[in-house]
Amino acid sequence: MSHQVHIQGSDHAFSVEEGESIIDAALRAGLMLPYSCRSGTCGTCMGEVVSGEITYPDGLPPAISADQDAAGQALFCQARAASDLEIRVREVREAGDIRPQRLPARVDGIETLAPDVRRVFLKLPRDKRLPFLAGQYIDFLLRGGQRRSFSLANAPHDDERLELHIRHLPGGVFSGYVFEEMQEGALLRFEGPLGNFFLREDSDRPMILMGGGTGFGPIKGIVEHALHLGVARPMHIYWGARAVPDLYLDALPRRWAETHEGIQYTPVLSEPQPDDDWQGAVGFVHEQVVREHPDLSGFDVYMSGPPPMINAAREAFTEAGLPADRLYYDSFEAAA
Ligand code: FES
Repeated sequence: MSHQVHIQGSDHAFSVEEGESIIDAALRAGLMLPYSCRSGTCGTCMGEVVSGEITYPDGLPPAISADQDAAGQALFCQARAASDLEIRVREVREAGDIRPQRLPARVDGIETLAPDVRRVFLKLPRDKRLPFLAGQYIDFLLRGGQRRSFSLANAPHDDERLELHIRHLPGGVFSGYVFEEMQEGALLRFEGPLGNFFLREDSDRPMILMGGGTGFGPIKGIVEHALHLGVARPMHIYWGARAVPDLYLDALPRRWAETHEGIQYTPVLSEPQPDDDWQGAVGFVHEQVVREHPDLSGFDVYMSGPPPMINAAREAFTEAGLPADRLYYDSFEAAA
């Protein structure tokens, strides 16, 4: 049995089938609501149920507390409709042709960027295209229904090949395959584009773009897209990593900063090694952002990285005056 969902304050309504999540039903109807992990762990899809009943088939997801649940908040990537619903979300966009598709792709290049990071290029079949927004991600579809999510590191105008930055996690099913077995020409299947981490072009505020580890990948896509569009907004790019080899494409943001007046670049290392001979910033990358920008009230902030970084940064940036609706983030566990 299906139910109707209406988004408060908009003309948007869509139907949701039994067993389908609200986010999936919205995507099917061509609407993008905020979401990232689709597994109940990041909190990006949090909204409010104004009226009606929802259920969670696997119990309350990790990213929502019992208090938030009792107060009517909900994680729409996990919630199922038990009645018609009126919901409130932070943002709703018409997806146009940016709809998730399931496609095959061939590995068209593999580069080792750091001892544990590879850049993988994918090529789609000749008659296929993947419209996407810079910063979105794809899910590789593995045997047994497993998925592995990776952000797109190229910009949409440069879509001859898709680019992914993949970190090797010892013992990881997929990253182990990428580092130990995968050859050029290998055939993979994926679903994408996914997520609502992308450049909002309808703002003229200066931007802070912060990547942690391979979270630099989607930041790269967003910056390349902004440069392609001729965006004149100032951009301060931060890249947090452990040691020098982890800044695996350091020359690229340095070049952006040298060749574009409005771009600044600050790499920050958490554990520089004696061999690194590091003269730059040291510590947690989000702390460096606040040191250099103690008042964030006039900025848009884009950040991508592991959940501990994202959670700490959300708190620190809110304290520094950043309004919640100007913080865009992609919180990911490195995919094993
Ligand atoms: Fe729903 Fe991450 S918790 S998208």
